[in-house]
Amino acid sequence: MIGNDIVDLALAHQESNWQRKGFLDKLFTAHEQQLILSFNNTELMVWNLWSRKEAAYKIYNRMSGQRVFNPIQFECDDDKVLFGDLVYYTQTQITSDYVYTIALTTKNGFNAVHPLETKSNIQKTNGIPNWLNPESNILFPASITHHGRFSRVIILE
Ligand SMILES: CC(C)(COP(=O)(O)OP(=O)(O)OC[C@H]1O[C@@H](n2cnc3c(N)ncnc32)[C@H](O)[C@@H]1OP(=O)(O)O)[C@@H](O)C(=O)NCCC(=O)NCCS
Repeated sequence: MIGNDIVDLALAHQESNWQRKGFLDKLFTAHEQQLILSFNNTELMVWNLWSRKEAAYKIYNRMSGQRVFNPIQFECDDDKVLFGDLVYYTQTQITSDYVYTIALTTKNGFNAVHPLETKSNIQKTNGIPNWLNPESNILFPASITHHGRFSRVIILE
């Protein structure tokens, strides 16, 4: 299954003061906070980890049907995000403008992920997007993300 999340670094810098008291404690585990504070670009690490948690959360939300706000229970561990017994595999692209994560439930499935140029033929069920292939009439799981100047739509074939 699939999830994605993009963070526009300029907008995040403008909108969120991650140094505010309580911010890190609310969103990140002790281990994650250690990673953040020991990294030379702390702000970038905040959005790197956050993007991975959000991408993993989208899979969790899709598969469980539950909407929770429990960032601490989604824990980044190298390129994985763990939620209890569940494991989500992530690939994160970091540029000077954005951080972008794709999460999957399988480690080797990333070559089955394809970007879409537009949201045409996206259908949502309970807010969860799927893409209808107009030729085969088959539905594929999709994930959508946008923040500031950037957006991405992807499908899992
Ligand atoms: C639902 C949520 C993940 C959306 O993330 P966001 O950063 O606000 O917004 P994004 O642009 O990345 O995603 C919004 C899009 O995702 C789509 N979407 C919602 N749930 C989705 C899911 N489970 N899978 C894929 N896409 C989903 C929405 O339809 C929306 O599409 P639209 O642009 O066509 O309206 C977020 O608002 C949320 O509720 N997070 C839960 C808080 C939390 O606990 N986060 C920490 C996880 S550890």
